[in-house]
Amino acid sequence: MAPAGIEFNFGSGMPDPGTFPSEALAGAAQRVIVREGASLVRYPDARGYLPLREIAAQRFRRNHSVDVPASHVTLTTGSMQAIILATQAFVRAGDTVVVEEFCYSGTLGVLRQFGAQIAGVPLDDQGLRPEALEGTLDRLAREGRRVAFVYTIATHQNPSGTILPLERRKALLDICKGRGVLVVEDDCYADVVFEGVMPPAIYTLGEPGDVLYIGSFSKILGPGARLGYCIAPEGLAERLLAFKRDGGTSALSSMIVAEYLKDHLWSHVGEVCAAVKAKRDSLFAALERELGGLVDWTHPRGGLFSWVKLPQGIDTQALARLAKERGLQYGSGRSFDAADRDVPYLRLAFGFIDESLIPEGVARLGACIEGAAPGARR
Ligand SMILES: Cc1ncc(COP(=O)(O)O)c(C=O)c1O
Repeated sequence: MAPAGIEFNFGSGMPDPGTFPSEALAGAAQRVIVREGASLVRYPDARGYLPLREIAAQRFRRNHSVDVPASHVTLTTGSMQAIILATQAFVRAGDTVVVEEFCYSGTLGVLRQFGAQIAGVPLDDQGLRPEALEGTLDRLAREGRRVAFVYTIATHQNPSGTILPLERRKALLDICKGRGVLVVEDDCYADVVFEGVMPPAIYTLGEPGDVLYIGSFSKILGPGARLGYCIAPEGLAERLLAFKRDGGTSALSSMIVAEYLKDHLWSHVGEVCAAVKAKRDSLFAALERELGGLVDWTHPRGGLFSWVKLPQGIDTQALARLAKERGLQYGSGRSFDAADRDVPYLRLAFGFIDESLIPEGVARLGACIEGAAPGARR
């Protein structure tokens, strides 16, 4: 069969297109450009457009109940740039970066590109296991390998959707602090919460300089804005800024987004979460109906992904081929595996896909899995 186009996009971690505030952003652009547009003849401030940094600080305060000054916020071109800058600043040749054993593919790609060794720490249904982290760091020390930092997505981990409990956050920090290892905390799903109260960021539990915090506007607005940031005290931030040679994060994009979010941040976050939660619920219902007894999946309380454990022995190449033929896109397990193994998992992203397509998409996925793992239904 000829490959169809992508009809069912469970592949990318993008937000709901229906909640993109086009009209309001157009109005914000008109206002702010008339008012401040002439400042665009200059290069942006090295740390980025101040009103957006203030919004990032406000957002942090509301989510984590701790004040951070806007002077500790540095805007970046998406949070991806903060990950790249941290890698450039802290990884020396031969260094290892410790990550959750299943980890955001973008980060793995950056670490590999810059020549970092990667060590994965096993996860359970509550995220990274502190004793496994300790074991990994001890082993690396015995092998004489320097650890540049521990990178963690503690809240709505990508891809597994786990939320690291407070006690584990404290343990993780103690373990790293005791060994003088920096923690890089990627919290780009902080606001995409469907139920429950999230534990505070690891950043709030440490002393200045223990943790580099990374945030993003991509998951509540859209990655097309290319706006992310890091929060770090002086000294740490300067080490990243030394590698930021792009002339600054777009002041035009920042001013439009800040003008909109200054009055709409929390109402917008509420709309985004309601829309994405409805899709998650449809996905759960469809998985139950179509894939029950065939695969297991995680039940995230926020974020954009469910991590699906496939039947042992499944032919993942055949699955990829069948899925492509049927117009399905998903994240392959391998792309999230720190050790680049062909693991029997896949990631379903539920933020972007039209809700009405979810039942049919999951039914097709079920047929593809049965085709790639005959006789696997329990
Ligand atoms: C955990 C994590 N970090 C960072 C990013 C990069 O996002 P952006 O550069 O758009 O802020 C993503 C995108 O999917 C992500 O899932």
